[in-house]
Amino acid sequence: MCGIVGYVGRRQAAPILVEGLHRLEYRGYDSAGLATPEAGAFRVIKTEGRVQQLRNLIKEEIPATIGIAHTRWATHGEPSDANAHPHLDASGRIALVHNGIIENADRLRAQLTAEGVVFASDTDTEALAHLIGRSGAPTLEEKVREALSRVEGTYGIVVLDLDDPDHLVVARNGSPIVLGIGESEMFVASDVAALVRHTQQVVYLDDGELAVVRATEFHTSTLAVESSPVVKSPTTVDLVVDDYELGGSADFMSKEIHEQPTALGRALSGRLNERFATAHLGGINMDPRELRAIRRVKFLGCGSSYYAGQMGAQLVEELARIPADAEPASEFRYRNPVVEADTLYVALSQSGETLDTLAAAQELKRKGGQLLGVVNVVGSAIARECGSGIFLHAGPEVSVASTKALTNTATSLAMLGLLLGRVRDLSTADGKRIVAGLRRLPEQVAEILAQEHAVAEVAARFADTRSMFFVGRVRGWPVAREGAQKLKEISYVHAEAYQASELKHGPLALIDNTMPTVIIVPDDELLSKNIGTIEEIKARSGAVIAVTNAELPEGLADAELRVPRNETELDPILFTIPLQLFAYHLAAKLGRDIDRPRNLAKSVTVE
Ligand code: F6R
Repeated sequence: MCGIVGYVGRRQAAPILVEGLHRLEYRGYDSAGLATPEAGAFRVIKTEGRVQQLRNLIKEEIPATIGIAHTRWATHGEPSDANAHPHLDASGRIALVHNGIIENADRLRAQLTAEGVVFASDTDTEALAHLIGRSGAPTLEEKVREALSRVEGTYGIVVLDLDDPDHLVVARNGSPIVLGIGESEMFVASDVAALVRHTQQVVYLDDGELAVVRATEFHTSTLAVESSPVVKSPTTVDLVVDDYELGGSADFMSKEIHEQPTALGRALSGRLNERFATAHLGGINMDPRELRAIRRVKFLGCGSSYYAGQMGAQLVEELARIPADAEPASEFRYRNPVVEADTLYVALSQSGETLDTLAAAQELKRKGGQLLGVVNVVGSAIARECGSGIFLHAGPEVSVASTKALTNTATSLAMLGLLLGRVRDLSTADGKRIVAGLRRLPEQVAEILAQEHAVAEVAARFADTRSMFFVGRVRGWPVAREGAQKLKEISYVHAEAYQASELKHGPLALIDNTMPTVIIVPDDELLSKNIGTIEEIKARSGAVIAVTNAELPEGLADAELRVPRNETELDPILFTIPLQLFAYHLAAKLGRDIDRPRNLAKSVTVE
């Protein structure tokens, strides 16, 4: 959600910090700030608004070679200059940036206020800055440890002490922190996106760890007051700075939509086996006997990852004939779920940092559930928690609205369904059919993207609509949900997804000539049912946009978004693509800031 950058080394820190914040702006963008030591005090520059506004406030060179910076997505306290990070303690000698939520902040604030501390902001973070500043411990490292022992909640923090301005202290509990190792310089960030311009050698902190970071060395240890050292070696990330550049695209959503054929190619590469008509998923450490012992599959994720899970559940049931379902991880974690020994639980997450999904995975592991992760970001918390699974290989997804990650998730789950099916009753012929269908996907996605202009025209026709239905049956239902989600989040047009079969049980009452319906109409065994639904809507003067690969009767739909034919089981993957373009162009027509939708940020690392 928020973004953290820290630097210690031989170069001026401020330009590196601001450039790092710029890379992280997709994680939060309501305020930004930095702190560097200067002439015995901190120079703190912070402002409500974008990183560019922070940049505008820096009018002269800042000589310091150490500093910390933050881009915020407000949780405690509205976006304002005062609530922007970094926060200082009362003495002005400790500076802190923080991601996450301190749950006992109100209690700490009351205690500190009773002790005479005057707060300068409404944030939960400031209480932690005061706790660190008031600790009597001899070193910054120990002060941080002591202060954190009084804190409940989640955090990724970076702390700088004016009295010892040659090192940073960082700590992690539930909010990512990664160190970047340079030549006589070190970087700290909440996301590798801020580091890849400078180094590809990184060290991921785990929850419950602290690091002391100097220009030439770092030491990691456990967070407990009675701490013990933790040995960590750097890993190489294969991301480069271009992955985070717009190139020629207008925004990241458009860039990522158009990257889908290549991203899909990477997800499929080396994973399809024609000879045995199955999928080869090297990250799943289960032999055929273990795969056969699975009696149920449950997908857990949030938002679009949950909808991809619904697509996956349908695929697993169809291909492997194993009962499968999907549930929002945010619900699962709170309902004391019954964990069954012969169920395979699959945590789905692009970022690998979504707190609800991570908590669900942790609860499952604690209860001894069999757990796999289907994750995009290598080294992320969920990937490490799950230990085995499938990486999406979608490349960095910067746009808040998920596109290529959803497509790669659904495709990976199709491969999982194929694998589970082929150790059971899915015939070689059907396995071959699915393998061939999967191979066709990248080209067919490119074919859909080539019709962008036509989709944009349809979106423009409906741009003055204030509310829309998205309906689909069975395979089309998660597609409708994802289509409605995309439209809502980037255009702010109300969109409600419904099972087409349920329309006449209530919501049909809302249909009139002001309420258009997007309907998912694959050429499958339910085609005549979907045509019936279109007729019901038309009879009530509702406009219909059909997403279809069928030959519909002339004039039945008011607009068609065409999709190429593939195997029906794989339809959800292809049918989602025109809806991404539809949402994108409708939002663009309304002049929305597509990469920075209001109230939203990438990676929900808080509850
Ligand atoms: C929608 C969107 C969100 C995410 C959700 C889960 O476009 O981006 O709904 O899908 O917050 O995020 P991950 O997949 O990172 O766990």
